[in-house]
Amino acid sequence: MTNNSLTKAKKAKVDEFYTQLEDIEAELKHYRGHFAGKTVLCNCDDPRMSNFFYYFVLHFHHLGLKKLITTCYKNQNPDLFSQNTSEQAVYLVYEGEDIGSPPNPNIAGFVHPLQGDGDFSSPECIAFLQEADIVVTNPPFSLFRKYITLLMEHQKNFIVIGNQNAITYKEVFQYIRNNQLWLGYKFGDMKFRVPDYYAARPTRFWIDKKGKKWRSLGNICWFTNLDIQKRHEELTLYKKYNSEEYPHYDNYDAINVDKTADIPCDYDGVMGVPITYLDKHNPDQFEIIGQMASTGIDEYNFGYPYICGKKKYARILIRKRK
Ligand SMILES: C[S@@+](CC[C@H](N)C(=O)[O-])C[C@H]1O[C@@H](n2cnc3c(N)ncnc32)[C@H](O)[C@@H]1O
Repeated sequence: MTNNSLTKAKKAKVDEFYTQLEDIEAELKHYRGHFAGKTVLCNCDDPRMSNFFYYFVLHFHHLGLKKLITTCYKNQNPDLFSQNTSEQAVYLVYEGEDIGSPPNPNIAGFVHPLQGDGDFSSPECIAFLQEADIVVTNPPFSLFRKYITLLMEHQKNFIVIGNQNAITYKEVFQYIRNNQLWLGYKFGDMKFRVPDYYAARPTRFWIDKKGKKWRSLGNICWFTNLDIQKRHEELTLYKKYNSEEYPHYDNYDAINVDKTADIPCDYDGVMGVPITYLDKHNPDQFEIIGQMASTGIDEYNFGYPYICGKKKYARILIRKRK
């Protein structure tokens, strides 16, 4: 095995987090109007395990979907990847047929083998991506940069789960800044089923009465480029600017705001606000100028903010729309 495929296999092992149906339902109810006549692709989803598959089969007719495609990744090294090791990567195409209740993807003729390992960037998966209108899944966190880049390059609509840390990734933030990508509804805690081989952890890990393993993560959010009502809700602001409460940064021409609720309603210049502000962002109310969120500086990242020589928390830079 080459070093490259070993690294890929190790990464795949930590990427096995299974999304719960209730979390999918709670998010996707806000996007119902987008699906009529559309082909949905779940490209990190084994139809035999994925609740995204279940969700779209259960709601296929109600949403007016045209087609559902799911593709599943299978790392080829059995020592490192113990789930369904003998099986190949597979794909499934569903067009509204009766496959039982609950839906049973194993009915003959629905699940087909893929030639490769089902990597979302492999040629056969890209062909499905090209056919799709909307991509919906929880992709591997370790490949999030590559995943979002691929979706954006192919100009696809998407609703995907990610870690809030991904907001400040250069590859993601540039699209947030330019209003090509934004956050969905849920912003916070989410629990996931993890495979049996998953090692116990001191926190945010438990085994249920049936012996199934679980993990929760406190910093989950959805990333999308489909219009949602939340994006048009105005933040109600009441505080007035004063120079003591809102000090100016040493290294950028902006004032510091520690809480989203405290954004002064009468300040016209640039303001550094917590990253959690993005959960409330309305592009008609504020424009996003950039971020001050890391030591690495780029076109839209101006480095961590400093006040009187003291390093402050990462910030998003915004300005009131006229
Ligand atoms: C966070 S899990 C989520 C699984 C499923 N989408 C869900 O929400 O329950 C990410 C999945 O992506 C798969 N995966 C890892 N690397 C992949 C790749 N290069 N291409 C496609 N899928 C991949 C993993 O096997 C894993 O099942």
